[in-house]
Amino acid sequence: MIIAANFKTNHTRASTKAYMQTLGAFVENEGISDDILVFPPATALEHIITDDNIRMGIQNAYPVEKGSFTGEVGLEQIAEFGIKTILIGHSERRHILGESQEEIAKKFAYFSEAGFEIVYCVGEPKEVREEGIEAVMQYNLAQFEGIDIHYDKLIVAYEPVWAIGTGLSASNEQIEETLSKLQEYVSAPLLYGGSVKVANTKEILAIKHCEGILVGTASWDVNSFCEMAAIAKQLS
Ligand code: 13P
Repeated sequence: MIIAANFKTNHTRASTKAYMQTLGAFVENEGISDDILVFPPATALEHIITDDNIRMGIQNAYPVEKGSFTGEVGLEQIAEFGIKTILIGHSERRHILGESQEEIAKKFAYFSEAGFEIVYCVGEPKEVREEGIEAVMQYNLAQFEGIDIHYDKLIVAYEPVWAIGTGLSASNEQIEETLSKLQEYVSAPLLYGGSVKVANTKEILAIKHCEGILVGTASWDVNSFCEMAAIAKQLS
């Protein structure tokens, strides 16, 4: 299974370092062999050497090696930290930062060409969910436009926008139905994200086609993230 933490704009360099030490020790002591991904803010990337199954990724980057793109980070800067995992298409980048599908597809093409493991996010807003599963799938599949769904280092995260940071996770039935339809289209591992917490981790990980979770808020506390990794181990 894949257990991923998205820090968003939380944690400092110092607190990320302490977090990684605690997490690394926990994973080792508990013998956890599931894949653990951590996406800290770009200021807290580290040249880390950890177990193969714990990987640090970047939350966003610009699809260029280097150049004049004020405020952006390119491949040369990421490579310095040995980072080979990236999150692309997160709903906060789509809806708050205004990234278009075309820009997202360019980013995907660039970082897949560079051999990155890509966690690619899709998910519908509330008004689309209210229209029913057909509208949901139409919306989610449109978010694959320009994306090579056969890329071998692709992981897809289904994160309904209305479930992110709201404390209201999608129901198990909604997750299962959406993942099973996504699975007909893309054969990459599928994660669920959106108000995952320790209390619902076990039931979500038990859902058919669900191969992991992408956790925001509840991952910021290292102890709860460790608990989620321990739950994944029990189910593996
Ligand atoms: P929350 O877990 O805070 O709902 O965030 C989910 C998310 O956006 C992970 O990428």
